[in-house]
Amino acid sequence: MANHFKMVIRKEQRSEVESNLVDLLRENGKVALSMVAEEGGSILGHILYSPVTITTSDKAVPALGLGPMAVLPSHQRRGIGSALIIASLEKLRQRGEKLEMDCPDEVFMVLELIPGSAPSGGGAVRYAQEFTTV
Ligand SMILES: CC(C)(COP(=O)(O)OP(=O)(O)OC[C@H]1O[C@@H](n2cnc3c(N)ncnc32)[C@H](O)[C@@H]1OP(=O)(O)O)[C@@H](O)C(=O)NCCC(=O)NCCS
Repeated sequence: MANHFKMVIRKEQRSEVESNLVDLLRENGKVALSMVAEEGGSILGHILYSPVTITTSDKAVPALGLGPMAVLPSHQRRGIGSALIIASLEKLRQRGEKLEMDCPDEVFMVLELIPGSAPSGGGAVRYAQEFTTV
């Protein structure tokens, strides 16, 4: 499976940073969920979640961080990325996970998979240390 991640990420022409990050997270047991989109035996996209912690003044709340994810450039804008998000969030809900985080460049989003799970008043989100070592 790790090779599929490398293939999709490299074809997507981003730096090797993200495929190295996926390797590290896997090696260190920090992958909470990973899924691929597949057609006719070919991997077209992938999504990965890793554990994060939301720290408030008085507690640390476990959550999941989304990323990296990627879809082959030749297959983008066809709904594959959306399908991966929908299917993975459904899986996380079935597993009873409570919170999911996403942090694209411009905004930071929190999704409560179980309403009321996010700490009121906010907090600091800490990703796995692997995110800082690649
Ligand atoms: C982001 C990515 C995974 C989306 O996958 P996708 O299969 O193309 O997404 P979808 O076809 O389901 O598109 C869903 C919506 O996402 C948004 N979107 C998708 N690609 C976009 C892009 N390049 N720029 C801006 N918005 C984009 C659009 O709103 C789109 O809806 P629309 O087609 O009606 O405009 C894909 O573009 C990709 O691999 N990008 C490079 C890697 C990356 O940035 N990963 C995310 C950070 S780890």
